[in-house]
Amino acid sequence: MKVREILVTSALPYANGYIHLGHLVEYIQTDIWVRAMKAQGHQVTYVCADDAHGTAIMLKAQDNGITPEEQIATVKASHEADFAKFLINFDNYHSTHSEENKEFSELIYRRLSSAGHISTKDVEQLFDPEKQLFLADRFVKGTCPECGSADQYGDNCEVCGTTYNATELKNPQSTLSGATPILKTSKHYFFNLPEFEQFLKDWTRSDNRLQTSVANKLQEWFEAGLATWDISRDAPYFGFQIPDTPSDEPDKYFYVWLDAPVGYMASFKNLCDKRAGTDNALDFDRYWMQENEHKTEVYHFIGKDIVYFHALFWPAMLAGSELRTPTGVFAHGFLMVNGEKMSKSRGTFIKAETYAEHLHPEYLRYYFASKLSDKVEDINLDLEDFMQKVNSDLVGKVVNIASRSAGFLVKKYDGMLSEICVESELLEDITKTGDEIAAAYENREFSRAMRLIMQCADKANEYIDAKKPWSLAKLEGTEQEVQDVCSVAINIFRQLMVYLAPVLPELTNNAKAFLNIDSLDFASRNQWLLGHKINKFKPLMQRIEEKDIEAMVEDSKASLTQADAPAATDNSKPTAKDKASATDASTDAEQADYIGIEDFAKVEMKVAHVVACNHVEGADKLLQFTLDVGEDKPRNVFSGIRKFYEPEQLVNKKVICVTNLAPRKMKFGVSEGMVLSTGDPKTGLTVVTLPDACVVGDVLA
Ligand code: 2FM
Ligand code: ZN
Repeated sequence: MKVREILVTSALPYANGYIHLGHLVEYIQTDIWVRAMKAQGHQVTYVCADDAHGTAIMLKAQDNGITPEEQIATVKASHEADFAKFLINFDNYHSTHSEENKEFSELIYRRLSSAGHISTKDVEQLFDPEKQLFLADRFVKGTCPECGSADQYGDNCEVCGTTYNATELKNPQSTLSGATPILKTSKHYFFNLPEFEQFLKDWTRSDNRLQTSVANKLQEWFEAGLATWDISRDAPYFGFQIPDTPSDEPDKYFYVWLDAPVGYMASFKNLCDKRAGTDNALDFDRYWMQENEHKTEVYHFIGKDIVYFHALFWPAMLAGSELRTPTGVFAHGFLMVNGEKMSKSRGTFIKAETYAEHLHPEYLRYYFASKLSDKVEDINLDLEDFMQKVNSDLVGKVVNIASRSAGFLVKKYDGMLSEICVESELLEDITKTGDEIAAAYENREFSRAMRLIMQCADKANEYIDAKKPWSLAKLEGTEQEVQDVCSVAINIFRQLMVYLAPVLPELTNNAKAFLNIDSLDFASRNQWLLGHKINKFKPLMQRIEEKDIEAMVEDSKASLTQADAPAATDNSKPTAKDKASATDASTDAEQADYIGIEDFAKVEMKVAHVVACNHVEGADKLLQFTLDVGEDKPRNVFSGIRKFYEPEQLVNKKVICVTNLAPRKMKFGVSEGMVLSTGDPKTGLTVVTLPDACVVGDVLA
């Protein structure tokens, strides 16, 4: 077999937000693929990094009263901790704010520039005179020039759907300061994407680099016409300064999306340097120099929302600077939870960290695997189905094979398996299915791989059910048969562990110890365990309990405050306008999570008197409040503070109630508001109480 040299990346998460289950679809998908390819004996390197630049990160740091460097260091540590929990096994995790990245970004820019692929143009933009910065579209609101609707963002009107330039908005306002922006002109640097049109048309259609639906989407973009891409931003900006700009020009920085994909190379280079001189040294040039393009493979796993950057800008940048282009770009869909977009109020916007506090990460790895295919389709995490699938497939089918046969072998035969296999046809059949499973992994058809694996598990269980070793064991003279049957079961179990290892690295590693074997590589399944001694069986996986899922959802509702909300997840992507006109200078600032004063004004908070406060039977996190907020009837409100208060401590207190929150139907009744607290739901919450002089029903302003 030819050992392939493969470099794999996942998209770089922004350094201003936490990892949530939506992100994990991609990291889990990539990690499974990498592990499967490694198990086939290929030399695979998986790198990633934090995407550390841009206005949003700069503003977030300001907001937190720290430097951008401090901000990105903290977030990087939390990202790495989350990835480790979910067993994402990067070979290297770096940052785009690194020396390597600066060097490569400058190299690429200089090469593009000297080949004539960079041009400059004066751009007139809205500028916030208070904040002293140019405003991207998402930071401007005003009246739609077309239909006159108020409160519309700077790129398009949500009421009439018109796309316009922020400069066309009537009565524009900066969402950062509330100031009226002024028009200001500055010189911008552009990458001449149209010069690569023919190259890109050929590139996107050849060598199966892209999924068909992605290639079709690109065709639409070609038909709409490619535009030059604005790769510069004015100071203040957190990023790399553009080199060789005239000294009389104000500082120009690379737009975050220019240096983000370069971060793939930078992280790999960082790894090459770390490994230099060791047995597993890597040769950077072999992976990135054009002349070596056919010796190695480079794959990018990405979300469907960033195809434009990876399948147009990135290959054009690489080709224009005489570097190799990716072998493939694999896009996946978004994550839905319970059939809907993830929602904070429903508790389905789940942080990686919150999930891991309640449920084992391997449950999610398996569930995602059972849903993922090579298509760019959204996947749905249905929490009920999640529990049933994991319990029935992994606990009920797979682990059960070992638990129902190991006991006999260990107790009666000192853990020894039979010297011969009495069901070689069955075992050969399952070994052969392994070829299909390996192909399914390689083609990213993980749902197919999981189906095939479960079919094998079904065969094993049918075999055990038919032979009934528990009944045989009660009969005289059946010792050999019981050992033979259980040995067949254990051998199938071992095959299943090999097949599931890319998805369940921890469980299969524990199974390796139980089976007393050295390897779970794919080829190892060909050596059957005959006359081999196994160890005592310990439960490998617990069933998911409904209460754990409920607790995770409740915690997600509690932990996602506005300040904490994921900034970059759904608004940092190229908008319709970016795609139609890549000259738009707005997208990175869309990452920020500011709300305007008008958003804040939407929240109605009133002084409330706690008439009664009680425990809620069956809910160990909740207290139930009866609140007088100056209306005809008191309100019923649930709050997740039971761990921190006895109800009587709160009776007769004056608290703050959010009164215009949509009523939420909970298992225990309808919650008609929210009681404000401070602190951390994990370590301690303090209900905000008001002086007695406050008047019930008064609005907080
Ligand atoms: O969309 C995002 O979350 C970006 N931070 C992804 C960057 S991927 C790569 F280009 F760096
Ligand atoms: Zn309009």
